[in-house]
Amino acid sequence: MFETLTKAPGDKILALMGEFAADSRPTKIDLGVGVYKDEKGVTPVMSAVRKAEERMLSSEKTKTYLGIAGNKGYGEAVLELVLGDSVARDRVRIAQAPGGTGSLWVLMQLVNRARPGATVHVSAPTWANHNPIALNSGLEVATYPYFDPTTRGVKFEQMLAAIDRLGPGDVVLLHGCCHNPTGANLSEAQWDQVAASLARTGALPFIDLAYLGFGDGIEADIYGTRKILSSVPETLIAFSGSKNFGLYRERVGAAILVARNAGEAETAYSQLLNIIRGAYSQPPDHGAEIIRTILTDPALRAEWEDELATMRNRMISLRKKLSDAIRERSNSTDFDFVADHRGMFSLLGLSTEAVDRLKAGDGVYMTGDSRINVAGIPEDRVGDLAEAFLTAIGR
Ligand code: LMR
Repeated sequence: MFETLTKAPGDKILALMGEFAADSRPTKIDLGVGVYKDEKGVTPVMSAVRKAEERMLSSEKTKTYLGIAGNKGYGEAVLELVLGDSVARDRVRIAQAPGGTGSLWVLMQLVNRARPGATVHVSAPTWANHNPIALNSGLEVATYPYFDPTTRGVKFEQMLAAIDRLGPGDVVLLHGCCHNPTGANLSEAQWDQVAASLARTGALPFIDLAYLGFGDGIEADIYGTRKILSSVPETLIAFSGSKNFGLYRERVGAAILVARNAGEAETAYSQLLNIIRGAYSQPPDHGAEIIRTILTDPALRAEWEDELATMRNRMISLRKKLSDAIRERSNSTDFDFVADHRGMFSLLGLSTEAVDRLKAGDGVYMTGDSRINVAGIPEDRVGDLAEAFLTAIGR
């Protein structure tokens, strides 16, 4: 049987984790995979999470099945966090799913049931796993202009012009906030224009919401998603609790669908549940119950929001420190964009050779497209890093 197979490409982001672990240099710096790190270089278990788990340990009475949609209280709490009052609830359905990736997967499967072989339009560039998930779901992938390598901002006019040309049956994948890999994001006025364009053309927005709270705060980060929800009849959202709750390995996310009316929502939901049942039957509960416990308890929720703010502010401060250090050493504002970007990542715009040199020579790891995870910057090594970047680009 297996002799018919050829070797599949490995995943470049996750492979980098292994390469970094195998590097014995004590001075190595990990700016690769998108996991948050604190000032000690540790990806911590958040204190609100720890407390929720302690409660769960003493109060859990059964491990029986929860059902295809997963933890209902979790679903309600996530909807409250994401939707606000942007959309009537009878048009909305949610199913817990394994991480942001699992949520993207089941929703892409749903798109393929509704419109077999539809085209998903993704930003150029986008997260490396978007294309495989869409293609493995039977969908086509096309790109719309997004990142401007000259300004390191968004090519907004070109993006809008491309989205304006789409129509019903097209799917537009948008990063709800904290664009991965670029770090360049839409302003509120730009979100307004994207929402108006989608309302005009009838193309379906599909929002990947993997970093809520990592940009400028929960309310600021959810602006675009809610604007779209209140502007168009149908939306898909893949929510992830991996980053903002630090629950990476627990695989907790949610697939949210918004339909034109309650009847269509129910029909689409029956298809979504059918997809889930036929794939993994039902999601694991642990991460979902942690998030439910936190979001529904005022004290734990406040503690989580504080911890999230600490993480966010640390990333913003590291951005500033790095761009200041580069400016001081190079007398140029060429890397000031790092301070303007938001979220976990910035795309530096280095050549592949420069990325390879940084890894081989300095032990600085980033993805091949020169994306850095700013949370991985060690505070006491910002100067070293600035020197290494400038040397790598020959300045
Ligand atoms: C990343 O982009 O590094 C993260 O989302 C981790 C992953 O699964 O790729």
